[in-house]
Amino acid sequence: MRSEKDLEHRSTQIQDQHAIHDQKEDVPSNRSGNRSFQDVLAANVSRRDLMRGGIAAAAVGFLAPKASIAMEAADSLAGAVKRAVGGSLVNFAPVTIAQYAAQSDGGKVPVISDDYQYQVLIPWGTPIQPGGPTYNGDPATRPTSAEQEVQVGIGHDGMWFFADEDSSNTGGMLAVNHEFGTNPHLLGKPAPESLEDVRLSQAGHGVSVVRIEKGADGLWDVAASNNSRRITVNTPVEFSGPVAGSELLENAAGNEPLGTVNNCGSGPTPWGTYLTCEENFNGYFGWTDANYEPNESQARYGFDSDGFGYGWYNFDERFDLSNPDYANESNRFGWIVEIDPRDGTKKPVKRTALGRFKHEAIAIRVGRSGRIACYMGDDQRFDYCYKFVSALPYEEALALGRSPLDEGILFVARFDDDGTGRWIELSRRDLRLRRAFATDAELLVNTRLAADIVGATPMDRPEWTSIGKSGEVFWTLTNNSQREVADAANPEAPNNDGHIIRTVERGVRGRRFSWDIYLLASSTRETEGVFTDPDAAYADPFGRLFIGTDGGQPDGLQDQLTVLDVTADSPSPQRLFVGVNSDEITGWATTPDYKTAWTNMQHPGDGDPAATNFPAATDGFTVPRDCTIVITKKDGGIIGS
Ligand code: FEO
Ligand code: CA
Ligand code: CA
Repeated sequence: MRSEKDLEHRSTQIQDQHAIHDQKEDVPSNRSGNRSFQDVLAANVSRRDLMRGGIAAAAVGFLAPKASIAMEAADSLAGAVKRAVGGSLVNFAPVTIAQYAAQSDGGKVPVISDDYQYQVLIPWGTPIQPGGPTYNGDPATRPTSAEQEVQVGIGHDGMWFFADEDSSNTGGMLAVNHEFGTNPHLLGKPAPESLEDVRLSQAGHGVSVVRIEKGADGLWDVAASNNSRRITVNTPVEFSGPVAGSELLENAAGNEPLGTVNNCGSGPTPWGTYLTCEENFNGYFGWTDANYEPNESQARYGFDSDGFGYGWYNFDERFDLSNPDYANESNRFGWIVEIDPRDGTKKPVKRTALGRFKHEAIAIRVGRSGRIACYMGDDQRFDYCYKFVSALPYEEALALGRSPLDEGILFVARFDDDGTGRWIELSRRDLRLRRAFATDAELLVNTRLAADIVGATPMDRPEWTSIGKSGEVFWTLTNNSQREVADAANPEAPNNDGHIIRTVERGVRGRRFSWDIYLLASSTRETEGVFTDPDAAYADPFGRLFIGTDGGQPDGLQDQLTVLDVTADSPSPQRLFVGVNSDEITGWATTPDYKTAWTNMQHPGDGDPAATNFPAATDGFTVPRDCTIVITKKDGGIIGS
């Protein structure tokens, strides 16, 4: 057992790398000066006007898309649920502020609604095949990199459940992102001291695809499958779409394309695959040559000499931006990556038509024609909201042996002050972009720069997107403490608490949309349902919106999962689950019957055993581990009801 002094020292190290994350994750790199007209609207749009929701209600009513067949089915199901639960879609006993204070043991253990129960599944270090090596949080050791490569990683984030035969509520493949684990948490030291340390850090990041089954006792566990696998930054991958084959992805070293990293949010496709989103990929690069100067593109993507302090570049030359043999390695990251969860032999594919930025998450809406629209946020202060529309109906593309994600048009959003907005095409059909970029590949590798040129609206850190039951899109904007001038779509300066925007468009190919502020998190202050820093979002087909938060919560709470009935006249968040000290609640998946849900507890205690030992019992020294939380309603009802 470690002395108190050791633990104190470790706490300091842990806080240090977490502070680097906080500082660098959000440093704005957008110098485009877009939206200079924002001063005008700041004067005109008061928060009260926005909160009144006049624009919102009118716009949604007017432009609401015709429901697809699936949505109509969901509508009638929603009606049934609403009747069953007495007029509200959200009817459980929420976790109160006082209840959390009383039951959380000072933030050491989570608290769930009295109407619900939870189970911990696949904490960091769980073998992906039964019987494999386990890491259980022993502070005196860590897995070897070889062990970690066959264990569930750290930093659980976006996920999806791929049920057996698409209808099983008791078995399937769970795909889970492992966004990040700081060096003190994952390695037990502030910086890697060897290539082996780097390989362990790398193996802790990435994606797990694991088979899980529900036992006769009602508990879920890992089961054996040939298709279970770990995907890390060292796994062979392919590029597809307009940038595939471009010299911008080639290195003098001739190294094959490997891996994915900082996998944040996710989204399922209508054809049964998993999309994982590469967010803060810049944080893993750095340079060993002190004289190295990043180019304009690298600066816009936030690369600097030391990244987020992971130190990979000191031992793995792929991540050294100043190594001319790997000059284009960094262009290989920042993409959306498609994974087949049911075929462990298939390489992950980087879908370059969806652009390169700090991809937070993705939500897909299927239009009546069968074309798809993918809604995506770029999470950095003052960065943008994007949409990709497939050229072909997705089934037609698949029948032709082509990916619906490889051919189509990428757009970036401009939010106007009157509650409408425009999707601006990012292609060389725009003369400004033709002048700036010699090829489509160059444009896509530099998506952020292209969006700067066409006058996209800088937002308050776009995080997740989710499609509501009527085809509306919810966008979480987590916060922006550096906003000095408000605008209609980002109406608070500074924006300390974050907000949720709702966009509505006629069809998936629409170039105009209407929008409203669905909720300012600051409006929940002083209420029992208070939450801030909305991040993860999942809208179910019944009309409920589940929000996971990432940021210091008021009133002694920790990060939480809250539920909103979006069919109600005004938002009234109901708290379903509250995590532990310094964690984040993120990711969402359910069984097809919506009676089992999974969410993730990320970086509990920031890895500090003094803050929490969850999911181990509180003992003051076991290393807390990121894990998945299985949620069920005690009465067997649909999650959220
Ligand atoms: Fe990975 Fe923006 O959260
Ligand atoms: Ca997030
Ligand atoms: Ca976040």
